[in-house]
Amino acid sequence: MLYILDTADRKAIKHCNEFYPLWGVTTNPSIIAKEKEDFWTLLEDIREIIGPDKALFVQTVQKTSDKIVAEAKLLRDRLGNNFYVKIPISEEGLKATMLLKKLGIGVLVTAIFTPAQALVAAKAGADFVAPYVNRLDNILGDGINVVAEIVKQFENFSLDTKVLAASFKSAEQIHKCAVAGCHAATVSADVMKMIIGHPMTDASVAGFEKDWKAVYGDKTILDF
Ligand code: G3P
Repeated sequence: MLYILDTADRKAIKHCNEFYPLWGVTTNPSIIAKEKEDFWTLLEDIREIIGPDKALFVQTVQKTSDKIVAEAKLLRDRLGNNFYVKIPISEEGLKATMLLKKLGIGVLVTAIFTPAQALVAAKAGADFVAPYVNRLDNILGDGINVVAEIVKQFENFSLDTKVLAASFKSAEQIHKCAVAGCHAATVSADVMKMIIGHPMTDASVAGFEKDWKAVYGDKTILDF
């Protein structure tokens, strides 16, 4: 499972990049607009925070294949090689995907809500497809099952495209995606923290501290 952070908030990126095994950062137009900042300053700062080796995903705001390709080239040139353009699935988006693969630019086909959409995107050469789990769950769409069926299809047809599930509100959704064989998940900093937290972990650690202090007081191993 590749853990990816779904935000353009520098503070959250700095924190999670330091404390979690992050593979990269995803953004979309809503996430970027939320920061209300100069586009290039924000994106170049994010690249500096995560360094050149981690993946950075930025979504095109174009509608036609030639302009999507132009935007992707510009983004890749300014943000480095470890860059993926996010393209919402559409006819123009699929054409752009096929053109970009010839140019060696990474593509994530996004706004995926059905396994059938994902399969066509994979055949067009997408490196990743992004099904939106929570947005499906919100309308009784069973996001986990959609992810599981996409994974199965890619196995059936020996496709290299990876499933990068997005739109999460709970640790349970991410766990179920991982069990279904999903390759990557992009999550907020809050959800990332939810994944590692457990009240039994807190209770266990409190017990260790109490037992230690009863015998050794405030001494730590470094004091012996
Ligand atoms: O890029 C798509 C993903 O960020 C959607 O997440 O939480 O807005 O449904 P959400």
